[in-house]
Amino acid sequence: MLKPGDAVVLEDPSYSYNLPIFQSAGLRIFPLPVDKDGINPEDLLGLHKKHRIRMIFLNPIFQNPTGTVLHINRRKRILELSSEYGIPVIEDDPYSLTSFAGEEISTLKSMDNNGNVLYISSLSKIVASGLRIGWIIGPKSVIDRLSDAKQQVDFGHGSFTQWIANDFLDSEYFPAHIAGLRGHLEKRRDAMVSSLQQFLPKKWIIIRQMAEFICGVG
Ligand SMILES: Cc1ncc(COP(=O)(O)O)c(C=O)c1O
Repeated sequence: MLKPGDAVVLEDPSYSYNLPIFQSAGLRIFPLPVDKDGINPEDLLGLHKKHRIRMIFLNPIFQNPTGTVLHINRRKRILELSSEYGIPVIEDDPYSLTSFAGEEISTLKSMDNNGNVLYISSLSKIVASGLRIGWIIGPKSVIDRLSDAKQQVDFGHGSFTQWIANDFLDSEYFPAHIAGLRGHLEKRRDAMVSSLQQFLPKKWIIIRQMAEFICGVG
């Protein structure tokens, strides 16, 4: 979908394995800082005017590594800019199903009326990373091109693991599995917080201040 020299926007900081993928494709990478509400759409507009951005790659819900959620007003503005300037958005969303605080956060894809968002997600964080199964939602023409590219790269994913994943997603057990996973993650978060408070009380204050600064969490 892109060619060497095309300009793409990434969050800064972002998932560390994204960078080499974009670099090896010869793309020009423009990092946008993430504050407690995600990236600022007006920064994106400024970059687009200077560099003609060809793609925006975002992890809007529980962003890795900051944990931030892109603010609803920013999500709306990014979609507006994407439509106005014809810039596709890739929404990387491996984490929204892991929410344990009960938040209902709309994905960009669910708010997109113009077909500008390609949504990608994965079983890695909710079932097993070893399955190497993910999915994409987007316009048929784009999916056809991507399927063709994947076929040329690896001849397609093994069907056995896809059968297993399909049965699991269809099974009655799946909703209970997600509920259990959320409970485990919440317990782990609480254990981490209390261990930091107990064993690193001085550093804990600094970590807390950093978290408040970056993510707005106490
Ligand atoms: C934001 C983000 N995107 C993608 C991935 C990779 O997921 P997968 O195992 O499906 O390749 C991760 C893994 O940590 C991630 O945090």
